[in-house]
Amino acid sequence: MERLARQRSYLLCPPTHFTVEYVINPWMDPDIAVDTAHAVAQWTDLRDTLAGLGHEVCELAPEPGLPDMVFAANGAFVVDGVAYGAQFKYPQRAAEAKAHQRFYEDAGWRFVPPTVVNEGEGDFAYLPAAHGGLILAGFGFRTETDAHGEAQEALGRPVISLKLVDPHFYHLDTALAALDDGNVVYYPAAFSDSSQRVLRQLFPDAVVAPREDAMAFGLNLVSDGRNVVLNTECAGLARTLAAAGYHPVPVDLSELKKGGGSVKCCVAELRR
Ligand code: ARG
Repeated sequence: MERLARQRSYLLCPPTHFTVEYVINPWMDPDIAVDTAHAVAQWTDLRDTLAGLGHEVCELAPEPGLPDMVFAANGAFVVDGVAYGAQFKYPQRAAEAKAHQRFYEDAGWRFVPPTVVNEGEGDFAYLPAAHGGLILAGFGFRTETDAHGEAQEALGRPVISLKLVDPHFYHLDTALAALDDGNVVYYPAAFSDSSQRVLRQLFPDAVVAPREDAMAFGLNLVSDGRNVVLNTECAGLARTLAAAGYHPVPVDLSELKKGGGSVKCCVAELRR
């Protein structure tokens, strides 16, 4: 099957101030040294890879004292030109939300401020061609279920709530990704039994990944419909995706994994 790429706009933030100095997910360990220069080099490779695939890449200015700001996916969730803002669960990341809000307001996007905890595209995914335009939303660790209704009101698209149950996969984007406008890849055991059933009903043709790929941050990928940019460590998933007609593009983000993130965490999609 011939898969078609669609040109995208992405927002990224360089890991200039990246460190691991607090623990808010099971991947973070302040006793393990972080090589910030290495993180910047790997991130630069990710940015150049996305640009090299023909996508527009916007950059947010990194701020000292916000070591997780590289994970730009968490700053908002954008559909049809409307940005629904984030409200971070942990105080260590709270100030990131304002930087994202400023970006959207300065660039003339409609910005809807949140009133409840939600971590942006970390916990929201959008499938424009699934059932006429469907938002998937995770809860259980970070984003509160009240934010799902708030997102639906802000964005005018149906929101499907999915319960995350494994702390390793604390954001939706660590366990599920949109491969194209209508299909997803996911790791079933990251979700409750009922949410797995919902996913099977909505996406009977989904690509299903084993735990090995999920633990290698393989589901934390960015796809343009054809090119699937994903962490180098998940060779198994890359083969599965190639067999399904996609074009895997591996990038090494081993340093950022120490913060509990990979490709998708670094990328927010700007959907006009
Ligand atoms: N250390 C960050 C946190 O725990 C990592 C965020 C990863 N972002 C993501 N979209 N999954 O909040």
